[in-house]
Amino acid sequence: MTTVAVTGAARGIGLAIAEELVRRGHTVLMGDLSGPEVAAEATRIGALSGPLDVTDDASFAAWLAIAEIDVLVNNAGVMWVGAYDQEPARAGQKMMDVNFWGVVRGTRLVLPGFRARRRGHVVTVASLASYIGPPGEATYGATKHAVHGWMKAVRQELRGSGVDISLVLPGVVETELAAGTSSGGLPRLAPREVAVAVADVVDKPQFEVFVPAKAGALVRTLALLPQKGRDLLYARLVPDQVKAVDRSKRDEYEAKRVRD
Ligand SMILES: NC(=O)c1ccc[n+]([C@@H]2O[C@H](COP(=O)([O-])OP(=O)(O)OC[C@H]3O[C@@H](n4cnc5c(N)ncnc54)[C@H](O)[C@@H]3O)[C@@H](O)[C@H]2O)c1
Repeated sequence: MTTVAVTGAARGIGLAIAEELVRRGHTVLMGDLSGPEVAAEATRIGALSGPLDVTDDASFAAWLAIAEIDVLVNNAGVMWVGAYDQEPARAGQKMMDVNFWGVVRGTRLVLPGFRARRRGHVVTVASLASYIGPPGEATYGATKHAVHGWMKAVRQELRGSGVDISLVLPGVVETELAAGTSSGGLPRLAPREVAVAVADVVDKPQFEVFVPAKAGALVRTLALLPQKGRDLLYARLVPDQVKAVDRSKRDEYEAKRVRD
C-alpha cells in the first residue's frame, strides 16, 4: 500500500478522497488551511494530518515531511464566480496562487525525491474548466487551463523517469466551493464520485480522467465542431454562472475563503 498526501482535505472533495483512500487501505496524510478541522476529520477517519498553506513554501515542505510520500494529490482550490469585470483583484490573485501556483509548488517539492527513487505519482484535481470556459468563471477557468498546460509539459519532461502524472477533471460538484452555482446541462456530482475516480487513478495512473466520463465525450465533440456548432452546444450544456449565480447562497463561501 502507498502513502498518499491530500491537500485541501478538511471538507468537500478532498475529505471524500481521504476517506476513500483510507477505505482502500492506503496511509493518508491530510492537509488544509483549516488546521483544527482537518485534524478532527483525520482523527475520525484514521489518517495523519497537519496544517497546510499551499501558497507558502515552508508550510508545504513541513507538511510533506510528516511522512514519506508516494503520491501527492493536489486538491486544494478556491473559486470566485461572477462577471470578469466585477472580480475583486484579491479574488483573482488568490485563485491563481492556490489553484495554479499551489499545484506547481507541491509538485516541485515532491519531484526530486520521486525522481531519485524512480517512483512516485502526482495527481491533480483540475476541472472540466481546464477545457471549457464557463461564463462567470474566467479567472477560475484560466487557473485550471494553466494547471493542465503545465502538467502536459512536465509529464513529457518526466518521460522514462518512473514518475506518473494524472489529472482528474470533474464537472460541478456539490461542495461549499460550488454553492449558489449552476451545473447547466450536466449532472451535479457528489464529492464521493470524484473521490472514487481519484482513488482509481492513485491505484492505476491515467493522465486525464473526466468525471462524469461522458464529459470527456463533450470535450472531444466540442473540439471537432466548427465555432458555430460549438457556441450552440455551449449555450445548451455549459452553465452561465453570471446569469445563474445565487449570491445569497454564495457570499458566505467567497467572504470566508476567496476574498479574505
Ligand atoms: N466543487 C466543484 O464544483 C469542483 C468542480 C471541479 C473541480 N473542483 C476542484 O476540486 C478541488 C476541491 O474543491 P471543493 O469543491 O472540494 O472545495 P471546498 O471549498 O469544499 O474544499 C477546498 C478545500 O481547500 C482548502 N484550501 C483553500 N486554500 C488553501 C490553501 N491555501 N492551502 C491549503 N488548503 C486550502 C479549503 O480550506 C477547503 O477545505 C478544487 O481544486 C476545485 O477547484 C471543484
